Amino acid sequence: MLKIVFFGLFVVSTSAQSFLDILTRNQCFGLPPRPINGRYKLIGSSYARTASYECNDCFKMTRGLPYNTCSNRRWVNPAPICEREDPCQNRRRPCDYNAECISLGLGKYTCQCKSGYSGDGKRSYFRDSCSTYVRSGTSRKSGCKRACKRPFQWSNADYTPRQDSYEEFERIHWTCTSPYKQRSTSGSTAPVSQFCYFGHWSGTSPTCLLSLCDDPVAPGNGTIRPSKRLTWNKGNAVTYGCNDGFELVGNATVTCEAANSFANPPTCAPVAEGSG
Ligand SMILES: *[C@@H]1O[C@H](CO)[C@@H](O)[C@H](O)[C@H]1NC(C)=O
Ligand SMILES: *[C@@H]1O[C@H](CO)[C@@H](O)[C@H](O)[C@H]1NC(C)=O
Repeated sequence: MLKIVFFGLFVVSTSAQSFLDILTRNQCFGLPPRPINGRYKLIGSSYARTASYECNDCFKMTRGLPYNTCSNRRWVNPAPICEREDPCQNRRRPCDYNAECISLGLGKYTCQCKSGYSGDGKRSYFRDSCSTYVRSGTSRKSGCKRACKRPFQWSNADYTPRQDSYEEFERIHWTCTSPYKQRSTSGSTAPVSQFCYFGHWSGTSPTCLLSLCDDPVAPGNGTIRPSKRLTWNKGNAVTYGCNDGFELVGNATVTCEAANSFANPPTCAPVAEGSG
């Protein structure tokens, strides 16, 4: 019905003869040739004489024309060629900012981190419609992270593993070399490890020192001052005390002279009834 109305209008505005010419000479009855990995769109109505071409996502027109026209009932142009786009040329870079994108052809690519960086070079959380360059990208190691150089090493401490460079989140584990011992004012001797983060080592390496005396301990129900020192050297003294209701049995002050100086601390005994 609509066609008949349109037909009628057309006949009124142009001559019937020229319309028939269009029908017979310029209308293609077949569809335009379809590109592999592409599509066409007919322009106008079902009397289309023109078509436009587009390549599918991730494909690029490398040869041919992006349109077709009809002449003597035939489509003039062959279908254009759609070839897989070079992902390295894609606006949405598949590689990390600090990586070089190397095209391997056929839509394949590899990412290579610049020197001083480590990782797979691929962009984190990168996703696009091209199945060849989809990656989950959620790995902590994706992208290019600043590598860590090997840490400064003192003669009294050692670490493993030993490498020239360390990747992001890679860990090293420290030990003190004998006779040095890991020391801290908090008294913690928990093994120290560090990890590489943005090109820097987290935390600090352990403090490895020589202590002449072993750490003193407070007597039961008693106190000690000072309770902690980084090292106990010859001459360092501790003063023992007792809680209320207890009295010291032994010397209140002991001086570090040899490794075992603090081995036998005084004791705190309950104050005898009636004497307090
Ligand atoms: C502290 O004193 C109480 C009472 O004499 C005793 O029972 C307890 O064992 C003491 N604690 C230590 C750690 O010596
Ligand atoms: C207390 O100290 C004196 C010297 O300052 C020492 O002769 C004595 O043996 C000490 N006593 C104890 C119980 O350690």
